[in-house]
Parts: sequence; structure tokens; C-alpha cells
Amino acid sequence: MRTDRIVAALLAALLAAAAAHAAEEGAGAPAAAGAPEAAKLGADWASWHANTNVTDMPSVQRGARNFVSYCLGCHGLKYERWSRLGQDLSIPPDLLEKELLPPGDKGTEYIMTSMPAKDAETWFGKAPPDLTLMARARGRNYLYQFLKTFYVDPGKQTGANNLRLPATAMPHVLSELEGLKRPVFRDVMTRGEGGKFSHEQVFDHFEMIAPGRLSAAEYDGFVRDTVNFLDYVSEPTQAARRALGVWVVLFLLVFTWLAWLVKREYWKDVH
Ligand code: HEC
Repeated sequence: MRTDRIVAALLAALLAAAAAHAAEEGAGAPAAAGAPEAAKLGADWASWHANTNVTDMPSVQRGARNFVSYCLGCHGLKYERWSRLGQDLSIPPDLLEKELLPPGDKGTEYIMTSMPAKDAETWFGKAPPDLTLMARARGRNYLYQFLKTFYVDPGKQTGANNLRLPATAMPHVLSELEGLKRPVFRDVMTRGEGGKFSHEQVFDHFEMIAPGRLSAAEYDGFVRDTVNFLDYVSEPTQAARRALGVWVVLFLLVFTWLAWLVKREYWKDVH
């Protein structure tokens, strides 16, 4: 029957698409991805991809640990409760309390930074934003590039600057892990107004000037895990939603086929 074949082909196409999707997600695992090593360090930073996978639970768990150790001092996640985090990331309550919860906080509370916004404004000139929805607002690649393009800039109050967010008020809080790097600029001639030529300094690549505690590949994994965690927080149900989606489409296809069989049965005597 021709329609049977069409339904079968549709099912096969759907399964193939689901398999390709799963393979693609698997390929982005932090450990396998490694550092995006260009010939010149950082020359292609604007095209770096985060390549994270929110269903990779160990990575999200490591990201949560990174966040609590290195970000929570300034940034909160005010729409997520500690208990929800524990549940979604399969962290038992006693471990959650021992390893992640700041002393005195309860599991039922929202994940808030202890830094008063007023003081932060005085110190940094800007209050550190809440990060719950940051991955949705800016995208994963942006966060990845942001955390990987801090560089030494003695002209700045924090001693650091950033390619993704120039003149950022955020200090390079991960410099102890990543090490220090300085930018090498290239002189570019541009034609300004009135046809006059002028010189402009354009970023070319980074040069490491001091090593950190982590190797380049380890730091890359650290940043990917952290971005993966922020991606999870920005939509805690997304893994479940995507898994369910495949079943919903499959159900609709099977249901369409059944409906067609019924229709054929009803019209059998008419034709
Ligand atoms: C010492 C305080 C401090 C710590 C610790 C800190 N940040 Fe920040 N962060 C800031 C400040 C201040 C800003 C505001 C920067 C601006 O708008 O220029 C900021 C901004 C950001 C932004 C928003 C960038 C944008 O485009 O607006 C992101 C994302 C971010 N931080 C991520 C992190 C992550 C991830 C960590 C942990 C690894 C972290 N921060 C740790 C102070 C901090």
C-alpha cells in the first residue's frame, strides 16, 4: 500500500534525524572537544563555539561546582532554588549541604550571592548581573568567548580587559586557573573621512605571559562545564523537553496512520 510506505519512510526519516541529533550532541562533550587551537592563540576567537551538551550530567555537575567556587561570590541565580538544583543534578541533600550550600543557607532558599549590590557598585562601578537567564540572553558561544578572552590591561582598574565585552567591569576571576595572557595588536591602515589614511590597532592574537594552574585543555574544559551549567540553569527542563519531543512526534505519526486506517475502513463501501 503506497500510504503505508509513506508513513514508514516518514518514521525512518524521523529516527535518522533523532540519531543524527544525538550523535551531534555527543560529539560536543567537553573532554573530547579540547582547546580550539589556532596557529595563533585566540586569532579566531569570534568564531569559537561552546559545543556544550546539557544532557551530559557530569559536566553540568562540575559546572555547578565551578559556579559555586568562582562565581557565586559576586553573581546569584535568583530564579533557582538549591533544592531544585540538587534534584535536577542528582546531588543527594547531604552532599549538597556539605559541598555546595553556603554555611547558613537552607536548601529551600534561592541561590543568592552574599555580595550586597550597593557595595558591588562602589567596587566595580556596576553590580554583577544575575546569571540565571544569561545563557538565554546572550547565548552559549558568547559566554564561552567571554570567559576565554580576558587579558591583562594595566590601563584598567581591575587590571583586566575582555575581547567579547570590551572595558568590562568584571575582573579576570579565573586568571589563577588560566594564567595571564596579553594581546598582540596589528597595525591596520584605514581610510577615514575625507580620504585621509589613519592607523588603527586591531587585535591579532594572544601571548601567554604566565601559566595558570590548569593546562590550556583543562581550562577549556573548565569553561565549557561552567557554560553548560549556566545553560542548564537558564532552562532547567530543556533536556526533558527535548527527549519528550521525539516521542510526541512519533505518537502523532502513528496516530495519523491509525486515523487513515479508520478512514479507509469507513469509506470502503462507498468507493
Ligand atoms: C569579583 C566579582 C565577580 C566574580 C567573582 C565574577 N564576576 Fe562576572 N561580572 C562581574 C561584574 C562586575 C560584571 C559586570 C560587567 C560589565 O557589565 O562590564 C560581571 C558580568 C558578568 C557577565 C555578563 C557579561 C555581559 O555580557 O553583560 C557574565 C556572563 C559573567 N559575569 C559571568 C561570570 C562567571 C561565569 C563567573 C564565575 C566563573 C563570574 N562572572 C565571576 C563580577 C564578577
